Amino acid sequence: MDPSPFRYNREQISRSYAYNHGGYRENYVHFGVFLDNRPVGSFQLKRMDPEKKQCEFGIILQDDSVKNKGIGTEAIRAGMKIARDQYGMETIIGDTMGRNRRMMHVFEKLGFSLTEMVPGAFELPDGSREDRYVYTRTLKEDD
Ligand SMILES: CC(C)(COP(=O)(O)OP(=O)(O)OC[C@H]1O[C@@H](n2cnc3c(N)ncnc32)[C@H](O)[C@@H]1OP(=O)(O)O)[C@@H](O)C(=O)NCCC(=O)NCCS
Repeated sequence: MDPSPFRYNREQISRSYAYNHGGYRENYVHFGVFLDNRPVGSFQLKRMDPEKKQCEFGIILQDDSVKNKGIGTEAIRAGMKIARDQYGMETIIGDTMGRNRRMMHVFEKLGFSLTEMVPGAFELPDGSREDRYVYTRTLKEDD
């Protein structure tokens, strides 16, 4: 997870999309997050493992103007359904830095459990380190 504030950059997002869908990373899929037909973020299912039926996800919204409005929660919920229904995943994993209280709250709201904490796993631009919190969720039939 990148601790710097995110600024939407069309070229960078397009490059990432092309990379993920260009055949380089078959076990990744990349989705746009939309509000009133306007792209406001990016959601990825990552490292989908068909044997373990397990994947990870990443999400980033455009900027503060679209945060805290329930969009991230809804996008992750939709992503969980896609992971289960389209890719046969049974477990989804996400991670965040200890300082990201909002994401930790979203994990808890969506029924994820804290399964691992790795002290000092992230290095910040100022050289300091942040703990990595890993959350796991079993994908159920009625999600
Ligand atoms: C993290 C992120 C995906 C969440 O999406 P969002 O649309 O902003 O979040 P939502 O509005 O769905 O939910 C936010 C919840 O956190 C709560 N919250 C906000 N700030 C909080 C804080 N400092 N501490 C605890 N809870 C907080 C909100 O009240 C809300 O909870 P509620 O619905 O129970 O009231 C989004 O903010 C984002 O893209 N952040 C930057 C990138 C990032 O951190 N990605 C995640 C790491 S992989």
